Amino acid sequence: MTKRVFNFSAGPAMLPLAVLEKAAAEMTDYKGTGMSVMEMSHRSSTYQAIIDKTEADLRKLMNIPDNYKVLFLQGGASLQFAMAPMNLAKNKKIDFVDSGNWSSTALKEAKKMGMDCHVVASSQADNNTYFPDFKAEDVRKDADYLHVTSNNTIYGTKRMNLPKLSIPVVSDMSSNILSEVFDVKDYGLIYAGAQKNIGPAGVTIVIIREDLVGLVPNLPTMLDYKTHVNKGSMHNTPPTYSIYLAGLVFEHMLAQGGVPYYEKLNKEKAEIVYNAIDSSKLFKAHVKKGPDRSLMNIPFFSGNEDLDKKFIKAAEAEGLLTLKGHRNIGGMRASIYNAMPIEGCRKLAEFIAKFDKENA
Ligand SMILES: Cc1ncc(COP(=O)(O)O)c(C=O)c1O
Repeated sequence: MTKRVFNFSAGPAMLPLAVLEKAAAEMTDYKGTGMSVMEMSHRSSTYQAIIDKTEADLRKLMNIPDNYKVLFLQGGASLQFAMAPMNLAKNKKIDFVDSGNWSSTALKEAKKMGMDCHVVASSQADNNTYFPDFKAEDVRKDADYLHVTSNNTIYGTKRMNLPKLSIPVVSDMSSNILSEVFDVKDYGLIYAGAQKNIGPAGVTIVIIREDLVGLVPNLPTMLDYKTHVNKGSMHNTPPTYSIYLAGLVFEHMLAQGGVPYYEKLNKEKAEIVYNAIDSSKLFKAHVKKGPDRSLMNIPFFSGNEDLDKKFIKAAEAEGLLTLKGHRNIGGMRASIYNAMPIEGCRKLAEFIAKFDKENA
């Protein structure tokens, strides 16, 4: 029997066991080719079929319209902090919703490139305990785009419904892509590192509306979306194995019932964990009750560092791993991405209740 733990890591994070088992079965001989996918030329017809199916399945899962291109890039979401401004900000004007560490990192990167950056709304002053509200009028009409981070991995806030704008919205969906249903048409560009809801680290998904490709001339070849659009993400060697595994995850997700299935499950899972925290005497969630609470990342605290340490250690002994909070805010964080089974959330909730009873 394989030993599996409930791993609450913020990323790289759990992958579905069925996917890992399929990858293991295909590891040394992919469909009778006598080689592993990671040994295979990216120019082979076998590999082309893998990347084509991966894209087609992602399109199905997210209902991506034909006028959007799907790219499989490298450099993580962090490279998109630079690529998005470089490619889309032809007037060098960008508005930002500052909802936490990752959005301010994206903003800093744009500023470094000489962009005129304007913060539309920020929750920093309140330690990002909510998602900052804003109205369409708060956004500059002549900005090239508005940048948002749909889910704040560190602070545990999220927002998917934004005011309708006349300028494109660029969203960093690294930590909640594929976790709930939303309309791709509301965005000009979506990007996400794979290592939370998609697959292993090494591939970054970019979904870009066609008319936003090629706005700025003479960019370095690898940093130009146009290069990757024109070459089907094959200008150079793509992260072949990470793409293959992402494809297995997409296939698995479709078989389970697609994003609506995961949205329902994610809501149930999150409710189990939030309820346990809210009904305890010792613990408090970082984000107050309501729609701003992330379905993916749940930071919580006892307010006593020693007790937090004791909790994390005792949880480990129960097979509940990687619950230590991000260094920016301390405490605990339960990351419960799509692949975290509901049993993991139940077990965590039971453990919170037990620890609370014994230590309150
Ligand atoms: C919301 C968000 N954006 C960006 C990043 C950085 O991603 P990467 O490590 O892929 O560059 C992370 C990583 O956790 C994240 O959670």
